[in-house]
Amino acid sequence: MTKISAAITGVHGYLPEYRLTNKELETMVDTNDEWIRTRTGIQERRILKGEGKGTSVMGIEAAKGLLEKTKTDPKDVELVICATVTGDMIFPDTANLIAKGIGATNAFSFDLNAACSGFLFGLQTASMYIESGRYKKVLLVGADKMSSIIDYEDRATCIIFGDGAGAVLLEPNTEGVGLQDALLKSDATGAEFLHLKAGGSAYPSTAETVANKEHYVFQNGRPVFKAAVSGMSSSVGELMKRNDLKTEDIKWLVPHQANIRIIESVARMADFPLERVMVNIEKYGNTTAATIPLCLWDWEDQLQKGDNLILTSFGGGFTWGAIYLKWAY
Ligand code: UT7
Repeated sequence: MTKISAAITGVHGYLPEYRLTNKELETMVDTNDEWIRTRTGIQERRILKGEGKGTSVMGIEAAKGLLEKTKTDPKDVELVICATVTGDMIFPDTANLIAKGIGATNAFSFDLNAACSGFLFGLQTASMYIESGRYKKVLLVGADKMSSIIDYEDRATCIIFGDGAGAVLLEPNTEGVGLQDALLKSDATGAEFLHLKAGGSAYPSTAETVANKEHYVFQNGRPVFKAAVSGMSSSVGELMKRNDLKTEDIKWLVPHQANIRIIESVARMADFPLERVMVNIEKYGNTTAATIPLCLWDWEDQLQKGDNLILTSFGGGFTWGAIYLKWAY
């Protein structure tokens, strides 16, 4: 029997208009443009403005553009997965809202939460549906409105994150391109260093949790930085080894955009020239589940059928890993 692979057959993104620059951040917290640029690589990030506008607004825009450019009838989409940590509401799932917003009336849908690794975990999950042979069109959206969970008085986090969405369409392929291998990991011993404490079942929202600012992202940057470098580089190394891949076999390394210094360290450890590493952190900051599809979208014109790509991420949980795929168009 011919092996079915899950291939990305289109990618699209959405970024809100408002640009929060380092200069503007200087007026909000005790920071400066030079520190932010040299310590993180970020120059500006996008912010979704407007009352009542949640992550689904961006997810819908990205998904609509994707369906249009791939000439896909929304009624043919069978499954919508949204990777996010900033769903519009606790429930219903944001994927459900996106499905309605794009007219995917025949699809079932659900959210997946793996923080900054959400897109990779979603890609592996979506691929399983395709590889089973039962699903022909799966839409994966990585979207986060990080500005909704950031304390703009906390300079340790507010300089890093931004809002955005990216979406890919996955379809079966029998020519050998598409997803080849995935290596995904999680370990909650890292939860103490990166989390959002309140609003869940352990610490439901109260006036006190709001007063204590426990509805915002907490991050102890240094341990997360170290774990990110070792988690991403070891998963890339292991994935390449078990697929017998040399650096020169890989056209692009597509890392989660959390910090330019993390990206450069991972590239150095994998012996990757920076010209073949996708980096757009300067424009968007860390958009959590959206960074990787936004890179693919920005580089779509330069990708060619058969190109080997390694995607890698690290994020809250901790969650991390790497995916090896062959670009399909
Ligand atoms: O995507 C999810 C996973 N997240 C990550 O991968 C993020 C990983 N961590 C990081 O990217 C970095 O740790 C940060 C960007 C968060 C922080 O950079 P750092 O180089 O680790 O800085 P630090 O926290 O060790 O702080 C160094 C100094 C401190 O001052 P002293 O104690 O040396 O005087 C901080 O108070 O920089 C100071 N500092 C700042 N100064 C200006 C911290 N934040 C700022 C700021 N502006 N925004």
